[in-house]
Amino acid sequence: MMQFPALVSERLVLRSLRASDAPDLSTYCQDIEVTKYLAVVPHPYTEEDAQSWIASQDKGIAGINLGITHDDKLIGVVGIKASSERDVGIFAPTIGYWLAPAFWGKGFMQEAVRRLLDWYLPLEPTEKMCAAAFEDNPRSINLLKTLGFEEIRRGTGYSAARGESVPEVIMELTSERFLQQRCA
Ligand SMILES: CC(C)(COP(=O)(O)OP(=O)(O)OC[C@H]1O[C@@H](n2cnc3c(N)ncnc32)[C@H](O)[C@@H]1OP(=O)(O)O)[C@@H](O)C(=O)NCCC(=O)NCCS
Repeated sequence: MMQFPALVSERLVLRSLRASDAPDLSTYCQDIEVTKYLAVVPHPYTEEDAQSWIASQDKGIAGINLGITHDDKLIGVVGIKASSERDVGIFAPTIGYWLAPAFWGKGFMQEAVRRLLDWYLPLEPTEKMCAAAFEDNPRSINLLKTLGFEEIRRGTGYSAARGESVPEVIMELTSERFLQQRCA
């Protein structure tokens, strides 16, 4: 499996996923309060699902998912899907993320996404990044605004865990805006 360098921030280490992460990953992904906000994670979710997803993480920088760890414990995942027309209809790399609920509200995801983009953007220069959050997910929409994302349009996206399409907000962040914020 392709290994990425560990990305270290103030409180977190972002690192490649390992086969030994499957038990934690499956515990977290069994929680519908996490997966109902995600596009592709099914519900119910098993340890075998976690094992095969981890084993499939070999797409290089074109489709990277890193484990987020705090005090050496896996607490979530952050990733970037390559530029594609995908379901959101624009050509820009798309970020996705989740944290186990015990770790919400501490600013961890802001820290993780900033660290990932600090590493990614110089390697894969792109005019903009994209993200889509379901309308009923104010935590994620708020996080994206804090990171400098702006709404570009509304649409619908399929939620595998809910088994239905859900209204969503499509947002983008220009690399220029991100870098300006980082230098401010
Ligand atoms: C959406 C989600 C990733 C947000 O994670 P998070 O770590 O709680 O988000 P943030 O990093 O923005 O932190 C949230 C709050 O922590 C607070 N906070 C506490 N300590 C902090 C610190 N040291 N630094 C920064 N913020 C801190 C902030 O006030 C921030 O809220 P605010 O921006 O309204 O002020 C998380 O709720 C989640 O995993 N949800 C389920 C899955 C999901 O929705 N994924 C996204 C699909 S689009």
